[in-house]
Amino acid sequence: MKSNASLFLFLFLLFCVGCDQTKQQETDMNLDYCVAQATKTMEMVTDHTRMPNSIDAGSTEWHFTRPGSWTSGFWPGILWYLYEYTGDATWKSEAEKFTALIIPSATGPARSHDVGFLSYCSIGNGYRLTNDPNYKQALLQAADSVSVLYKPQVGTFLSWPNMVKRMGWKHNTIIDNMMNMELLFWAAKNGGDQRLYEMAYKHAETTMKNHFRPDGSCYHVIVYDDQTGEFIKGVTHQGYADHTMWARGQAWAIYGFIMAYRETGDIRFWQTAQKATDIYLQRLPDDYVPYWDFDAPQIPNESRDASAAAIVASALLEMSVLAENKEESKAYRTAANKMLDSLSSVHYQSREVNTAFLLHCTGHRPNGYEIDASIIYADYYYIEALLRQKKLNEGKSIYK
Ligand code: GLY
Repeated sequence: MKSNASLFLFLFLLFCVGCDQTKQQETDMNLDYCVAQATKTMEMVTDHTRMPNSIDAGSTEWHFTRPGSWTSGFWPGILWYLYEYTGDATWKSEAEKFTALIIPSATGPARSHDVGFLSYCSIGNGYRLTNDPNYKQALLQAADSVSVLYKPQVGTFLSWPNMVKRMGWKHNTIIDNMMNMELLFWAAKNGGDQRLYEMAYKHAETTMKNHFRPDGSCYHVIVYDDQTGEFIKGVTHQGYADHTMWARGQAWAIYGFIMAYRETGDIRFWQTAQKATDIYLQRLPDDYVPYWDFDAPQIPNESRDASAAAIVASALLEMSVLAENKEESKAYRTAANKMLDSLSSVHYQSREVNTAFLLHCTGHRPNGYEIDASIIYADYYYIEALLRQKKLNEGKSIYK
């Protein structure tokens, strides 16, 4: 009897090891797929002063973007992740070349909050992997430069200076802006002005208070009075309507607040991320990839947004690490793995269709562009999530 039980336990453990190995092989296969697709994209890049940005549905041709645009840091960021995965010096040298293009716009005057996206994904990953002091200097300058957009009377950053006049949005803060607090937290920890930490903390706190509806879904834009800090209204720019849940906005909220919790330890930020995640998971379709807006009127005949799925998958892997409760940790990791399984399926991977990693993203539906497209930031967060998945499978830290 006893020996039967031991045999059963032995076979069960063998089965578990086998499952872990299979999971790791799948993650590696998906990362190898990213390497193969990016290799093909590199062959298509003839102008080395612009970055691959998006591919329209039905096309195989990349649209490129100039250094300084909000999406320009994602391609260099992908190259750094490819270098991290492969250890191949060719990817490092490509990453260095494209990152060098970003430095002037990262360190020049900030025209919007997007300095955070464009510098932290490119130069930030470069610094993490190389410790190059020039990268450190550039990141510190980028953080100082973006800090001029902070408005103490409101307690948030002005996201879009160009919308002040154009839309009459005196002081506007978008949920995406949470993502860029990571650069400020980093700078404050790495020799920058300590006020950067205070600004980022206050921005997160004000956003937590004003951006969320009682059910945990968030507005895209909050318009504040620029002198009194009074909340004027919550509106959308890229979602379906002011009151709806724009998928990528919700993804930025989840990712942004779990990062803010990691950096501050403020439990309210964890709770905010958790509530934003709950409603997101409850309302997802069966394949774990949202429609571009959860309240778009023609669902299921609406385009998906695989970029939101990739951002949330990466964020939930971090939540699985930071969760104190084991059950919660497991639930977040399971949900993230399901998202990555779906994104890695024949339906969402680009494979022979084009040379991006993923299909079926929506960039700006109300303005009618990048609908059902491949978009560079979806690829960036997909490979980031796969690397996090690999590190977790191997029992390593996701942060190194
Ligand atoms: N940050 C702009 C967007 O998510 O489309």
